[in-house]
Amino acid sequence: MPVVGTSQVRKDAEAKARGRARYVDDLVVPGMLHGCAVRCPSARRSIERVDPSAALARPGVHAVLVAAHIPGRNVVPLIFEDMPFLAEREARYHGEAVALVVADTDELARAAARDVVVEGQELPATTDFETAEDPSTPLVNSLGGSHNLIKRYAVRRGDVDAAIEGAAAVVTGEYRTGYQEHAYLEPQGMLAIPEPDGGMTIHGSMQCPFYVQKAVAVALAIPLHKVRVVVAVTGGGFGGKEDVPSLVAAHAALLAAHTGRPVKFILERGEDIIAMSKRHPSVIRMTHAADAEGRLLAVRAEYVVDAGAYSGISTVVLWRGTVHAAGPYVVPNVDIEGRAVATNRSSCGAFRGFGQPQVSFASESQMDRLAEELGIDPVEIRLRNALTEGAETATSHRLGGSVGLREALTRARERSDWFERRGAAAEGPGPDGMLRGVGVSCLYYGVGLGAGGAYLARAGAQVQVCLDGSVEVSVGTTDMGQGSETVLCQIAADALGVGYERVRMMPVDTSRVPDSGPTVASRSTILSGNAILDAAGKIRVRIHRVAAEALGVGLADLTWEDGVIAVRSDPSRKVTFVEAVGKCAKLRVPLTEQGFWAVPGTFFDEGTGVGDAYMVYTFVANVAEVAVDPATFQVRVERVTSVYDVKPVNPTLIEGQAQGGIVQGIGYALHENLIVRDGVVETADLATYVIPGTCETPEFVVDFTPAAYGNGPFGVKGMGETPILAIAPAITNALTHALGTRPMSIPVLPEHLMELAKRE
Ligand code: MTE
Ligand code: MOS
Repeated sequence: MPVVGTSQVRKDAEAKARGRARYVDDLVVPGMLHGCAVRCPSARRSIERVDPSAALARPGVHAVLVAAHIPGRNVVPLIFEDMPFLAEREARYHGEAVALVVADTDELARAAARDVVVEGQELPATTDFETAEDPSTPLVNSLGGSHNLIKRYAVRRGDVDAAIEGAAAVVTGEYRTGYQEHAYLEPQGMLAIPEPDGGMTIHGSMQCPFYVQKAVAVALAIPLHKVRVVVAVTGGGFGGKEDVPSLVAAHAALLAAHTGRPVKFILERGEDIIAMSKRHPSVIRMTHAADAEGRLLAVRAEYVVDAGAYSGISTVVLWRGTVHAAGPYVVPNVDIEGRAVATNRSSCGAFRGFGQPQVSFASESQMDRLAEELGIDPVEIRLRNALTEGAETATSHRLGGSVGLREALTRARERSDWFERRGAAAEGPGPDGMLRGVGVSCLYYGVGLGAGGAYLARAGAQVQVCLDGSVEVSVGTTDMGQGSETVLCQIAADALGVGYERVRMMPVDTSRVPDSGPTVASRSTILSGNAILDAAGKIRVRIHRVAAEALGVGLADLTWEDGVIAVRSDPSRKVTFVEAVGKCAKLRVPLTEQGFWAVPGTFFDEGTGVGDAYMVYTFVANVAEVAVDPATFQVRVERVTSVYDVKPVNPTLIEGQAQGGIVQGIGYALHENLIVRDGVVETADLATYVIPGTCETPEFVVDFTPAAYGNGPFGVKGMGETPILAIAPAITNALTHALGTRPMSIPVLPEHLMELAKRE
């Protein structure tokens, strides 16, 4: 029996359930000190002088560091090098680190941080991204070549104006989306341990150990091989631990290098909400044109995101959103422009979906409006336009295979009882007085970083078969809760033909595997999975050669499964995997291998917006059912049906991914409202920034219509982000169905709905 495709118990389940898993804050080493940051209290301030004397006068405070103390370069090594580890002459957003304090305890460090006097003035700030490009606003940066522009992307195809002219229906809308805070269970945290040879070892909570390694090397001015990064059990990331941990780790490392002692650096929740990255707020203007049958003729879109004070990875977020803005449809004419603009607000970053939830909210709203205008069923209009094998995406990428959108939509329609429930909802309030609505959405997600990050599109693995036949696997991508450790053990088990229990995933350690890029963009299953197949395949062949010899047959005559290697024509002739490994040991056959996989052929032309943007796309269809209280406008999402075109490696785990993503999408659509006034974050706790809890959890119907991906390990592709991406538009489409009026911005709070209903 293959292990891939079965619901094995998570490798980390028991340790986490019993409270034995060790997160970074559980790690204690002798001589350890505690660090924290002095942060900017407003949107923009000059830094004229930092006076640490009162802080240093406290017994137990070891040092206060400012930018001038940094031995290396004061810049986080990302795409554009604009973000400093510590602000120098001015701080540009609420929460930016200005100085670092290290003391015997965390409480003492925080008290001392309050004693550090930062002399400076409030400076005029740009806090509205929608007007930030106007030259009259204070300049934050002009990395993209004009006032407060960080980057512009375009995707163009055909002649949009001509297509609109001949269209039967044209709909135009302006949509807005708010911030979203990751609200991972575990705040950011790092432990830095100085090594006797001048090196630094980092343990911590992160998604991208190789980014952290590079950042620490830059900050300390030491070579990469002197920085070893070991990933601790990580309590959620959702993209929030992609670029940010580089900053946190550098802060810990600077203090550790300065004091010569280990330093733990853990953020408090409020500090984390204020100072760390978030999902980009956006405004999207879209025009969709279709013929009388609802076939899309053209999509014009302008997508503007608020990047915040530094560029971070906003370009990546913007690129993904721009490339996917036309939705998973055949659109002959497109004109999409995306812009990331700079403001004196939190530096926004990766969040599950990288700029796609924003555009999908707009484009899936537009699809429903077209359907309504033309009198076509919303599922039907999507089926008529769905990308299929051989069709071209907006970037003129001809899809070779693994395109399961039609099947997913059809299955979602069935499993959600679409027609019955839509019909029942349309009949007015139910016996409980609630108004009901049913809405659909669908989406495609390019797996991995795509052409924009092609240089990172590779991963390594190390597989070691121990002499007793147990197996150690190391990869460079991390498990932040999504379960990749389990999934990759399943892949390794099948690659070697052994049981799942025989395989163990080793802690991610930069000294063990080659740079494998970041753990983002749902890339781990394909990339680390293929690297494992590469390594395991080399070992398996060696073991099988020895087994074939012992059995007196050729390599091609063997089958392998469940720890038994047998002769295909006569399965009674066999050796166990363990016996074969024993023979290998005697023969001194090497049983450790490195594996590597690089994504083949993606490209993108920035001038024309044409390219095979991603290696493969994952498709999803959602149906949401909502109930609205007509008196209070409280919304309850009652049921969500989601169908993915992926083959599950572990059905239970993937269903967990779906459920978590759906609830996160409900939060994005209806509850999560980060209030930032004049650049100051006002909802800096989980009492005022409200995320959905169990009461907001709907009934889930999760299903799969697998479309095998030939280059994926055992035909699988990534799906970790897809569950959240198009939940908001399914909900707002359902709300529109229930109320007859359309929310044009999210989050949709009850007071917004009440306003909308009044206006009707
Ligand atoms: N699931 C849990 N439980 N916790 C997380 O932090 N992150 C999501 C998703 N699912 C996340 C999660 C994000 S943002 C990504 S990119 C993928 O998992 C990464 O996992 P993969 O590469 O293994 O698909
Ligand atoms: Mo996920 S936003 O790609 O870390």
